[in-house]
Amino acid sequence: MPDPMHFDRHAALYDRARPPYPDSLRDRLRQLGLLTPGRRALDLGAGSGQATRLLVDAGMDVTAVEPGPALADILQQRFPQVHVVRSTAEEYVPEPGSLDLVTIATAVHWFDLDRVLPSLRQALAPGGRVAVWRTVYGDTSVPPSLFRERVQAIADRRDAPARPGPDETETEAWARLLTAGGLFVVDHREELGWSIVLDADGIQALFTTFSDWSEAEAEQAAEAVRELGGTVVERYVTPLIVLAPAG
Ligand SMILES: C[S@@+](CC[C@H](N)C(=O)[O-])C[C@H]1O[C@@H](n2cnc3c(N)ncnc32)[C@H](O)[C@@H]1O
Repeated sequence: MPDPMHFDRHAALYDRARPPYPDSLRDRLRQLGLLTPGRRALDLGAGSGQATRLLVDAGMDVTAVEPGPALADILQQRFPQVHVVRSTAEEYVPEPGSLDLVTIATAVHWFDLDRVLPSLRQALAPGGRVAVWRTVYGDTSVPPSLFRERVQAIADRRDAPARPGPDETETEAWARLLTAGGLFVVDHREELGWSIVLDADGIQALFTTFSDWSEAEAEQAAEAVRELGGTVVERYVTPLIVLAPAG
């Protein structure tokens, strides 16, 4: 099984190499009324703050929970106004009724949902929501680019351990898992497609941050970019699932 502390071991690289979430995500969260100044938000598995930033920029009162010490340090330095808690999502128990929004960005697959979801259900204030999203690196709904064919070939050659939970592309399976306990219902679900141009260094850095890629494999991916002309257009997807309390 991949190691959830992989990100912390590469904290500075993680911070530099992971692309930010697309503007369309921020727009949708706004349209859904989730980014409201003064409201109380909790970002679980915050990393170096890619999702935290959306909450801070919206003027929310933010707590961020991150177990990796190096990532938590980056987070606290970047956002002095955020209450950073060095903890796992399982160990952190927010006050009942104290939260208007919980965000879980590219992190839910690391959580023990049987422990985390009940405490989130209790912590939500009336009208509160849990927004779960991630980046899927590689849009499987479009024909693969030459680079994506090379990435697949690298992946096919190895015997990498699977990440926990359903496959990252299976948004419906994730929605079922998040609502299986009967505590939450799906309030909104969609998949936001976006693209980014990356060079060989960008690909090498990004792939090194993936918990199921070795450094040698990330170098092979970078070599593929060089052979394909030096840059590639990558098409990614951000599935978004917004949960409301059931009943
Ligand atoms: C792929 S990173 C995502 C970070 C950030 N949310 C983002 O969007 O860039 C996954 C994060 O989950 C954190 N994590 C892993 N297991 C966790 C747990 N049990 N509780 C809370 N966070 C966890 C890792 O330390 C890492 O920062």
